[in-house]
Amino acid sequence: MRFSTALLASAAALTVSAQNGYKGFNYGANFMDGTPKTVNDFEYEFNAAKQLPGTNGDWTSARLYTMIQHGSTNTVIEAIQAAINTKTSLLLGLWASVPSEQFANEIAALKAAIAQYGTAFTDLVVGISVGSEDLYRITPTGIENKSGVGASPDQLIDYIRQTRSAIEGTTLAGAPVGHVDTWTAYVNGSNNGVISELDFLGMDAYPYFQTTMANSIENANETFYDAYDVTVAASQGKPVWVTETGWPVSGEQQNQAVASPENARTFWAETTCSLLKANINLFFYTLQDAQMGTPSPSFGIKPAGDLQQVQPLWDLSCPASAKPSSRTIPLSDPPPAPTTTGTTPISSITSTSTSIGPQLPVPTSLDEVFQIPQLLIPIDHSRPDTPLGSQFIGQLSPTYSTLVNFQFPASFAGKLCTFIFYMPPIANGWWSPYQLKSPGGLSVSRMLRPATVSTTPNNLGATQPIGAVYPLTLGQGHVVGSLPCDGGGQTVGFQISALAGLDFSWYQSVQPPVGLFVRANG
Ligand SMILES: *[C@@H]1O[C@H](CO)[C@@H](O)[C@H](O)[C@H]1NC(C)=O
Ligand SMILES: *[C@@H]1O[C@H](CO)[C@@H](O)[C@H](O)[C@H]1NC(C)=O
Ligand SMILES: *[C@@H]1O[C@H](CO)[C@@H](O)[C@H](O)[C@H]1NC(C)=O
Repeated sequence: MRFSTALLASAAALTVSAQNGYKGFNYGANFMDGTPKTVNDFEYEFNAAKQLPGTNGDWTSARLYTMIQHGSTNTVIEAIQAAINTKTSLLLGLWASVPSEQFANEIAALKAAIAQYGTAFTDLVVGISVGSEDLYRITPTGIENKSGVGASPDQLIDYIRQTRSAIEGTTLAGAPVGHVDTWTAYVNGSNNGVISELDFLGMDAYPYFQTTMANSIENANETFYDAYDVTVAASQGKPVWVTETGWPVSGEQQNQAVASPENARTFWAETTCSLLKANINLFFYTLQDAQMGTPSPSFGIKPAGDLQQVQPLWDLSCPASAKPSSRTIPLSDPPPAPTTTGTTPISSITSTSTSIGPQLPVPTSLDEVFQIPQLLIPIDHSRPDTPLGSQFIGQLSPTYSTLVNFQFPASFAGKLCTFIFYMPPIANGWWSPYQLKSPGGLSVSRMLRPATVSTTPNNLGATQPIGAVYPLTLGQGHVVGSLPCDGGGQTVGFQISALAGLDFSWYQSVQPPVGLFVRANG
């Protein structure tokens, strides 16, 4: 099969897939004072969600964190009966940051629910999440934040497999089994084995908490979608559901992020509304998180009190101008799974932030590395119809991306093409081949047709993600990802985009290697 034919085939197959536009909230098993929620409490909440002023009554999904009724050993959580009574669809959760004897209780409750309620229950289930932020809690940031006990990738893989066998042969067989974690967990290559086990990735992302970045409400939409994009790039082609996001109405300022109902409204109008338009499964955080106490920060749409009577703290209507997210392309024919070599340890990275992708030393010669790009074209997304033409300097920033074409030789046929971005060495002297105004990461996508001198943001066409790297470190080669080179002998275009606030320009060179290169292995 020729590469170009494969690309045309997937272009024709572009459709929205595996996202049904479920809209819901996250529901804990107990109130803040530790009282377990009963069937009446859950029903009250599920009904309140459907009656939210400013919505169409279509917030009819609920995400749970556990199958177990709070305070019991393995009694089925009463939310199941409440969901049946109110026709609320369910993203089930099994709490996984526990030893296997305790996880057995989650499995027992899941099986008991199937046996007790049958299809009245199982028809409502849209997915099952094994775990919630377990991988985040074992990271240095999670530990520093005293986030509690987590679970290792191996433990999660075991629990995911146990869950799959528990539903085998039942009316719940075939329900998508996934996991929920922070976006930073998915872009950490050490967790790739977990992703391989999943039918979907549930992503939690809160720009408010991203205190190492410029995280004011003005940047929140961009920050959120940066997280979403890197998660999609790491997802091995699987659907990414947004399982938690939101902006607090009250609480402390976090770096530049101010908690207020006005800012929660802005986040809703920009981010929530664009997710809804794009039909991405969304479990917002949250309907009301101040019951029997007020947490700080507080994310509730409804203040403490009567869920049915009290007006939302902000306007929930979506602006007519809200556009669907155009940053990622759901593919019914998923692109080849991005792979990384996984052999270079990332432990050498001293930054406390999560890193994506192995790093390599920069070679002194390019013997094994295939050519520099044939054509390099920066494009400015704030001037969507203006071609900037062929240049030697690549530019990446919140408004600039850079397109490059490679000519794959015939010898690439049947091999695996690995993409490496070589960062320039730290400048020492009057001349430097780069300008780094603001640190960050980058992502690389394959274009469905190569760039030309007249390519602009508006005529660039669709792209498929290959991978992402974060953070970019000077003097290092970063492995972005790999894909089959296919036939060889063709010209292929790639788009390099900035992530997480990167503002960087570089002089594409060979000696030393600076910029994007591709190498064929095997
Ligand atoms: C990456 O993931 C591994 C395994 O889950 C974890 O031990 C490690 O702390 C994570 N690294 C960072 C920087 O978060
Ligand atoms: C976790 O700790 C980091 C580093 O101290 C901080 O920037 C971040 O805001 C904390 N996150 C949460 C959720 O508290
Ligand atoms: C938020 O970002 C998404 C993805 O880039 C975009 O589609 C949407 O229009 C943005 N919303 C606003 C109000 O800028």
